[in-house]
Amino acid sequence: MKKINSIEQYQSQYEKSVENPESFWAEKAENFNWIKKWDKVLEWEFNTPKIEWFIGGQLNITENCLDRHLESRGNQTAILWEPNDPTEQAIEITYNELHNRVCSFANVLKRNGAKKGDRICLYMPMTPELAIATLACARIGAIHSVVFAGFSARSLEDRIKDATCNIIVTADGGYRGAKTIELKTIVDKALETCPSIKKSIVLKRTGGEVNMKTGRDVWLHEELNQVDNICPAEKMNSEDELFVLYTSGSTGKPKGVVHTCGGYMVYAEYSFRNVFQYQEGDIYWCTADIGWITGHTYIVYGPLLAGATTVMFEGVPTYPDAGRFWEICDKHNVNLFYTAPTAIRALQARGNQFVNPYSLSSLRVLGSVGEPINEEAWHWYNDKIGKGNCPIVDTWWQTETGGIMISPLAGITALKPSYATLPLPGIQPCLVDSDGNEIEGNDVQGNLCIKFPWPSMIRTTYGDHDRCKQVYFSTYKGKYFTGDGCRRDEDGYYRITGRVDDVINVSGHRFGTAEIEAAIDEHENVVETAVVGFPHDIKGQGIYAYAICHSQPTDMDTFIKEVNKTVIEFIGPIAKPDKILIVSGLPKTRSGKIMRRILRKIAEGDVSNLGDTSTLLDPSVVEEIKTSAGLG
Ligand code: WT7
Repeated sequence: MKKINSIEQYQSQYEKSVENPESFWAEKAENFNWIKKWDKVLEWEFNTPKIEWFIGGQLNITENCLDRHLESRGNQTAILWEPNDPTEQAIEITYNELHNRVCSFANVLKRNGAKKGDRICLYMPMTPELAIATLACARIGAIHSVVFAGFSARSLEDRIKDATCNIIVTADGGYRGAKTIELKTIVDKALETCPSIKKSIVLKRTGGEVNMKTGRDVWLHEELNQVDNICPAEKMNSEDELFVLYTSGSTGKPKGVVHTCGGYMVYAEYSFRNVFQYQEGDIYWCTADIGWITGHTYIVYGPLLAGATTVMFEGVPTYPDAGRFWEICDKHNVNLFYTAPTAIRALQARGNQFVNPYSLSSLRVLGSVGEPINEEAWHWYNDKIGKGNCPIVDTWWQTETGGIMISPLAGITALKPSYATLPLPGIQPCLVDSDGNEIEGNDVQGNLCIKFPWPSMIRTTYGDHDRCKQVYFSTYKGKYFTGDGCRRDEDGYYRITGRVDDVINVSGHRFGTAEIEAAIDEHENVVETAVVGFPHDIKGQGIYAYAICHSQPTDMDTFIKEVNKTVIEFIGPIAKPDKILIVSGLPKTRSGKIMRRILRKIAEGDVSNLGDTSTLLDPSVVEEIKTSAGLG
């Protein structure tokens, strides 16, 4: 498939995509294997919302990830797996082998009762089996719901229930750095209240002792002995659901973002190839976990659709030391490397002695995703890792967008540190003011919206279409609202400034303030909490919790430990507050709304200008909080 190769071509493609989106995307879609070609490219309206791409088309995404490549690249490595422990052998899985293993796994799912349209939960470590299970679901038309294996039993339970999954695939345990996580034990706990799950298929990874419930739990390796590796791909309509992936918003419980087969496939491949300027034979490594959208689109689907070699890493950047990423880059001659600002900052903070031993000479393109990348981290990444000659693609997108939306095309778009730069062809961003008016021209700032559909956009939120409408399509009529603030500079370049809603981005992970508050409120001594984000050197944003207690805790350290425990139980360790301040009241307006703006300022340690506090029910609480925070 051809890719854009100059800025002029980008511009002409962009114009074409706006003038005639349907013919633009039809041309991209022609490059895939369709069981039946579409009748109509697009139907849409953003109020319901109703978005349909490649209507009437039939396909199976795994035929395009696997079968389509077998003749030309059957013996090429599809997945290159690097284990947590560097002394354990890396594994290369060719396209032929991957095809066989996906088919076998699909047959295991079928043997255990899986049918087209079922929801199957995957709660797994970063082993090849996770990618294989994902594709196996898609092979048989089951909808995968991958839950990041760092989430707690409660979070897992909520997600299983919301999508009424009937099967879960998990492992005895998982390795992450020096830690072993007992996944099966967590699953057992979650399943106590999840009657919809009939089967749990367990990968043996750590060999740790686990409970196997007769009739429900089966070992994957035993099941695999019972099946062959022939599994025809299920015929899917373009708009059949491919997967659901949960993500947090400003209110309520995490919602299941739904993506469908046809449009997601086209956009995953197109964006992967163009943003990274993938060349035949490149070794590509995205360090994300498949539990997040980045892993779905840019570890599994995008690279495999493009016929690339995709590296999967089981471990963490700092194990056995902070040089691990760079050691892996050299070991596997990685050409395209994609990671998150939080990892860059954490590794930069450990010092250059962890980078210096490695040549990093295979690297050609560097990517960044998940949060704004600050200039200091950008320069370190550029100078120390890229040696000044690898373009950095700062890719802005979201779980809901399915793929990269605003980003440089490597080596083509002129870069500006901390700018996601320009929209991909087919993407029509706009900035709107608080009244919903579009802000035209350059050198402006506003709320980032998208005013025209793109193939991989969210279709619905699982089981609650109205929520999808309310959250994304109601704030600004006729537009998809991203929740991000953004600047468009004098050159028309976009710079994402961060969330404008009550969402906190901690190390690239999204949390709603409300969900963390709900977790902290579970502590028996807590009456009410307000959570805000504050600038954090490594995590981007940290979590600052203001808590009103029934009685002043006698020992603050114990109290903090208990609150952390509660948060770990309800969400997971990544949502632990960085700071907890006990207060006697919260700054509320007369209508009872917490003025988070003030709490954010205090959390930042900047109380010079708290703005208008006259609408507060009791302005004196502000003084009190300032004093408790040591800023009085
Ligand atoms: C939010 C989406 C899809 C990527 C993984 C996170 C922030 C993401 C960037 C970037 C500035 C970014 C936004 C967005 N974000 N990438 N390059 N520059 N901000 O996916 O969990 O759905 O979070 O992450 O705030 O809305 P997600």
